[in-house]
Amino acid sequence: MNHHRKPIIAANWKMFKTVPEARETAVQLKVLLDGGPALHSREVVVCPPFTALAAVKEALSGSGIQLGGQNLHWEDEGAFTGEISAGMLLDCGCRYVLLGHSERRQFFFETDEAVSRKLRAVLSTPLIPVLCVGESLAQREGGRMEAVIEAQLAGALAGVEASRLDRLVVAYEPVWAIGTGKTATPAIADQVHGMIREWLARRCSADMAAAVRILYGGSVKPANAGELMARENIDGALVGGASLDADSFARIVEFK
Ligand code: 13P
Repeated sequence: MNHHRKPIIAANWKMFKTVPEARETAVQLKVLLDGGPALHSREVVVCPPFTALAAVKEALSGSGIQLGGQNLHWEDEGAFTGEISAGMLLDCGCRYVLLGHSERRQFFFETDEAVSRKLRAVLSTPLIPVLCVGESLAQREGGRMEAVIEAQLAGALAGVEASRLDRLVVAYEPVWAIGTGKTATPAIADQVHGMIREWLARRCSADMAAAVRILYGGSVKPANAGELMARENIDGALVGGASLDADSFARIVEFK
């Protein structure tokens, strides 16, 4: 963490929680964080399933905790059964949206080209894109980590002018650390974040790269959040499993 960059701690609830469960967790989170110092020095975001966005929005109102979508479609509207547009997320009160999460890439065949279309759609709205990148275990072991991440970044940012990327947030989520209990060591994560920042400096500008928040995701827990966030290039966390419980997520938000 660098004091010029305000950390973002984001909860990705994935395909968990009914509306009553989501509402209850959001209410607990608001109570746990309300009035504490963390909400002044950190941005806190909750990304529930689409079905719970309205209930979570209501439960979090007045708390300063922001809402995010987990995915979207690049068109404004149309015959795209099962999809949700940027406008619809804004309508539900979202400020952020995740793009290209590894589960979308892996299970729903989302390509860099699709991620790029989504990014361009998001940049034409006030939503803040959280672009997820990360290598698999086989790619890391094959010595291809850097090439894979650079290709994901280049693919997603293709055709986007650097001047439009000042809102971009990046999340580095090594696939081998998601839901496995295996966290990248703070040193490994920091090294990859540094590499991403250098790539952005070359692609955009030194100023943009110095300001961009790069979050780490993959088995972040209350016990390891502090040591991860202490690293220069780690500007927050994208939390899956440990964000489902309000108490555990609040302890991550309040990392020391
Ligand atoms: P876990 O925290 O469950 O490993 O999930 C990470 C993740 O995919 C967040 O988007």
